[in-house]
Amino acid sequence: MLKHDALTVRGLHPPDITQVRRVLETSEYLHSRFEPEELPHLLETYPAAGAFSVPPGPLARVSGGTLQAFLLVNWLVPPSAWIGGFGVTWSQGAHFERFLDPLLARVDQAAAAAGARMLYYSGGDLENDWLRASLEARGFCLVTLLRSYDKTDFRMPSAGNQVVRVRPYQPSDTAAVMEVERHAFAQRWRHDAASFAEVARAYPYFVVAEDERGVVGYQFNTLDTTTGYLVRIAVHPRATGQGIGTRLLAEAVRYFQRQHILRIALNTEEGNTRAHALYEWFGFEIVSPRGFVLGRAIPAAEREGGGRAQADDGWATWNT
Ligand SMILES: CC(C)(COP(=O)(O)OP(=O)(O)OC[C@H]1O[C@@H](n2cnc3c(N)ncnc32)[C@H](O)[C@@H]1OP(=O)(O)O)[C@@H](O)C(=O)NCCC(=O)NCCS
Repeated sequence: MLKHDALTVRGLHPPDITQVRRVLETSEYLHSRFEPEELPHLLETYPAAGAFSVPPGPLARVSGGTLQAFLLVNWLVPPSAWIGGFGVTWSQGAHFERFLDPLLARVDQAAAAAGARMLYYSGGDLENDWLRASLEARGFCLVTLLRSYDKTDFRMPSAGNQVVRVRPYQPSDTAAVMEVERHAFAQRWRHDAASFAEVARAYPYFVVAEDERGVVGYQFNTLDTTTGYLVRIAVHPRATGQGIGTRLLAEAVRYFQRQHILRIALNTEEGNTRAHALYEWFGFEIVSPRGFVLGRAIPAAEREGGGRAQADDGWATWNT
């Protein structure tokens, strides 16, 4: 970025992928909660903003400038939206804070237009997160601490309830799965029909448990070459305490064993003692560091469509 360049903030879209990838691949100032292959879908689906340096002169509007920083959302189920990525180009890394305000304003506005009222950020290490203090200085507050568990064997203390049927998720289960989730999780963690469809498309393992009254629980996982990630497990309160969570967990452990991974990992809220008891009974052990979630209400000015950020066709420009 040169001395006389102006800084322009606008929404990011799929044609911007190459520039975002360049920042992802080279930046030392990166927060990323998504896989690189998810990027096209994220830019197509959720709010994202980029700060571009634009050289003076007539070619500026044609070239569109060079991406210096981006901020994107990777999950939005009204009224909650989650920051999925923030990155600043290598040469501007030390000045990352100057990009935060205009990018947050732009993302706030787009998220609010999509029905969000809260913006969340999740970090993996409470004590050593390079963005945490900057976000707290901008009104983000600690919402919850997270606890990480690991298991490096496939032992199970019980196979759980054998009366319920466990079978792959089908699209027709969506309403029932959403109903389980409505009872099981705080709003910020919930999916809507579209995001459950996305889970079904992208995750290799997604099952439901059903009894004579219908779907009573669900569980889904993902994995890489060494690690299985136990992402979600939930049982409807009408049927908790009957060994259904145990059954779903036992089925997950068997699945990971078939996939020959070396480690099963999961995160849970620090206060979820019932889930902790289940995991610890299964031999999961707490591992460092401690993750956390920050959140803040989207400022009223952005909710009403005001603020400094402009719509895509109206560029907002700051001189550097
Ligand atoms: C956590 C959850 C999935 C458990 O489901 P569940 O069907 O009630 O689980 P189970 O009936 O198999 O019981 C799990 C039990 O294992 C228990 N357990 C732990 N040690 C045990 C032991 N030594 N012997 C027998 N049971 C033991 C747990 O304490 C719990 O027993 P409880 O009924 O006495 O509290 C369910 O409560 C839920 O959906 N909670 C909300 C969503 C959530 O928090 N999910 C996890 C975070 S992703």
